Amino acid sequence: MTGARSGSLGAMTTLFATPVAALAGTLHVPTDKSITHRALLLAAVSDRTVTIDAPLDSADTAATLGAVEACRVAVEGHLGGRVVVAGRGLRGLIPSPAIDCMNAGTLMRLLPGLLIGSQADHVILDGDDSLRGRPMARVATPLRRMGAAVFTSPGGLPPLVVSGGVQLRGMRHDLAVSSAQVKSCILLAGLFADGETWVSEPVPSRDHTERMLRASGVEVMSVDGAVGIRGPVAHLNLPDLEVPGDFSSAAFHLVAGALLGDPDVRLPGVNLNPLRTGLLGVMRRMGVDVEVIPGPEVAGEPAGELVVRRTDDLRATEVSPEEVPAMIDELPLVGLLAARARGTTRVRGAAELRVKESDRITAVVRALRGMGVAAEELPDGFAVTGAPTIPGGSMDAGHDHRFAMLGAVAGLASRDGVRVAGFEVAAVSYPRFAFDLAALGAVV
Ligand code: S3P
Repeated sequence: MTGARSGSLGAMTTLFATPVAALAGTLHVPTDKSITHRALLLAAVSDRTVTIDAPLDSADTAATLGAVEACRVAVEGHLGGRVVVAGRGLRGLIPSPAIDCMNAGTLMRLLPGLLIGSQADHVILDGDDSLRGRPMARVATPLRRMGAAVFTSPGGLPPLVVSGGVQLRGMRHDLAVSSAQVKSCILLAGLFADGETWVSEPVPSRDHTERMLRASGVEVMSVDGAVGIRGPVAHLNLPDLEVPGDFSSAAFHLVAGALLGDPDVRLPGVNLNPLRTGLLGVMRRMGVDVEVIPGPEVAGEPAGELVVRRTDDLRATEVSPEEVPAMIDELPLVGLLAARARGTTRVRGAAELRVKESDRITAVVRALRGMGVAAEELPDGFAVTGAPTIPGGSMDAGHDHRFAMLGAVAGLASRDGVRVAGFEVAAVSYPRFAFDLAALGAVV
């Protein structure tokens, strides 16, 4: 591995986001985190050498690159540019005894699905304090049902201990809660299992793994919303790919543009997988002028340009449980829009937010109240009552990248500005966030 890589988040930084009259311009947002994790992992078990253009350069994806290298996969190049991964084949990973997943939940939940196909014995997967608090039984339990040796620590938490070398049996898993990470892990395990492995979800979650497996020559079956793999699969050939812009990163600028875009904020080259873009429908319902200009597919997925303009007449809305999976990471931003909307906005059926990088229900309510906004927790969501002005104040990112960025956007649209402690955590998914906001005219 040569060249620069991210990984450390640097010293504690407090950012003061100062109110601005308007934001305008065109931004190329960072490339997609979910697709980058999957591309690196599937390239590692490919029969070929895979070239990945523009993989996201962030702390989270650096963790996945490190994990791939820790499985004795040769990697050239650098994140943010081009990475060339010399795949070792489906059963060729040789993992080190311990792998550090840092803050990356997607890595910790997908990697066991691949490691069980190796001959590894007792590989320990651990992470930072935030990851150590996140539930892992949701992947360990289904894999054990299939016969795999995957164990959590007490309470279903990391570290995980994973061993390979066991023949798995295919079976059906009906997930009680939609989760692309759990679905992906089970499908990856299905590559090694005898017979068919099926996963159903209450509402479909993002399907990047299924798309990438199909592109790699693996048949992914689909019946009545459930997806399945017939194993064991012998070969996987991920084609070379370019990673598109990340809708979840674009979402911060979409909301900034809805509050301040004049004449407009333009975001080209963004992944528009319909299982990721639920925020667009909610924004439109709230009265936001947001336009989608479709472009050519990137990485076998829809992509295009988003254009958003300021709206001074936002209306409250209700976000229903069925809408949650397609906007799971964007729900806190709905809270911010709601702070400026007429009426009370409610988000329901989103209890999953409590087990993200932080408890995002508590965190969104605390952050908004810290800015003088009327917000309250619900057991499975939150309610926010809007006003013409967001007064401003201070908040702590709480080791959650998405709250560092939400605080910055809120400050720009506020009366007095917002001070965001622990802002450096934005680097988990979007290291140059403050710089990009400044390019649109923000003072941060
Ligand atoms: C992700 C799936 C979602 C999302 C996370 C990334 C993925 O998590 O919140 O940021 O890449 O598969 P869940 O699968 O836990 O819903």
